[in-house]
Amino acid sequence: MEKTIDENKQGNTLVMEPKQENSRKLFIESYGCAMNFSDSEIVASILAKEGFNTTQKLEEADLVLVNTCSIREKAEQTVRKRLEKYNAVKKINPGMKVGVLGCMAERLKEKFLEEEKIVDLVVGPDAYKDLPNLINEVEAGRDAINVLLSKEETYGDIIPVRAAENNISAFISIMRGCNNMCSYCIVPYVRGRERSRDPQTILNETQLLAKECFKEITLLGQNVNSYNWEHKENKTNFSKLLDEAASKNPSLRFRFATSHPKDLSDEIIKTMAKHPNICKHIHLPVQSGSSKILKKMNRKYSREWYIDRIDAIKKHLPDAEITTDIMTGFCSETEEDHQETLSLMEYVQYDYAYMFKYSERPGTKAARVMDDDVPEETKKRRLNEIIDLQTKISEKNKLKTIGKSFDVLIEGTSKKSEDEHFGRNSQNQVVVFPKDDEKTGDIVKVKIDKTTPATLIGKKVQF
Ligand code: SAH
Ligand code: SF4
Ligand code: F3S
Repeated sequence: MEKTIDENKQGNTLVMEPKQENSRKLFIESYGCAMNFSDSEIVASILAKEGFNTTQKLEEADLVLVNTCSIREKAEQTVRKRLEKYNAVKKINPGMKVGVLGCMAERLKEKFLEEEKIVDLVVGPDAYKDLPNLINEVEAGRDAINVLLSKEETYGDIIPVRAAENNISAFISIMRGCNNMCSYCIVPYVRGRERSRDPQTILNETQLLAKECFKEITLLGQNVNSYNWEHKENKTNFSKLLDEAASKNPSLRFRFATSHPKDLSDEIIKTMAKHPNICKHIHLPVQSGSSKILKKMNRKYSREWYIDRIDAIKKHLPDAEITTDIMTGFCSETEEDHQETLSLMEYVQYDYAYMFKYSERPGTKAARVMDDDVPEETKKRRLNEIIDLQTKISEKNKLKTIGKSFDVLIEGTSKKSEDEHFGRNSQNQVVVFPKDDEKTGDIVKVKIDKTTPATLIGKKVQF
């Protein structure tokens, strides 16, 4: 999904403005998808009430929490490396406590306390409200664990503490869990049943963010477009929620991720077309272009269904950016299936894709009843072919932006030059342009005059 944190890179550390003197210091970082980042803001909010202030310095922390991902083997390896780092710091600062949160905590449960000796605390994604009690246990010298999954918990009653360095864009988790049971995927096991959050709490939070002068909100869920709230008379689906949020907050831009192709209705596409403040970007993970493999994956759509959804997007939102996730080398994938993935990529002309090799996850249906029978070499070769094709398509699509003008929300200063702003257009493309008298948070019209593989470069259009 869009703000997925690359699992090879360092995690995302949450820092807030210090609120209290003499408080305990919390170092919290997140790996995995944006939902983990959003959950860390909820955790920081719960712990702020217990007198914890966040710090960016691992060495000075009283409590270190790492929010973890289990989606692929590699994601878990990254976390294990971080635990080694904490271990080294703990030798200098023996009072420091370490807790593992999130999906990997849920998957490994007490194994963490047994195998990873430096871990004091293990907390699954639905148990964050129990953190104050669990920390008391740890401080009393006992190991603490809560990995109970809930059918109801949405943290709808908690206003997350937003990271200090970013008061432009914010995440709001609108639903949790996943019922889709894709045969390769660990998420339903570690995040539990799907549940949607009360729409009123979501709308209240959007209005609060608008008041605080935030400019962009990304609505989050593993299957965000299956959002559905039914309570007595009150029925709200994703399209209605989006429509209401966009109408009530004209000062905010809205994004959402991740959409499942089976739930991408015409109603949602038309709602996007209706509101200029709903960004014209759809992340629509396809996984494979072969209907046979999609069936084995239990994705609940065929190649034809997916193409029909793409056609609907292109019809109603001709300027929208379409991005995807592709997984290669799933059980029984033949050369012919692989060719179907490549031909689908040609058809859609994705602007960007996250591309992965299939990684078997313990306990999933694929691990239990299917053979991980595509040799590693073949997976690598197919992945390279997919990456090569996507690189060409992305470059070609970027070139098409030359001469066009976009509304760009300025997010900060370009990493390459102090004299340039960096921001994003509605399509979610990164745009860089020379600074003038605008500031971060402004929306500016920029005309593109050249591109690099990752960036559009342009100049502000003077009125
Ligand atoms: N809910 C989203 C995806 C969430 S996980 C959806 O259904 O589309 C993000 C991506 O990780 C998936 O789209 C998939 O491409 C990849 N992924 C999930 N499980 C995987 C596995 N076992 N091996 C490799 N990639 C995997
Ligand atoms: Fe995993 Fe499928 Fe749910 Fe996405 S929709 S989180 S891939 S089970
Ligand atoms: Fe990873 Fe859990 Fe997100 S497995 S992708 S952090 S829901």
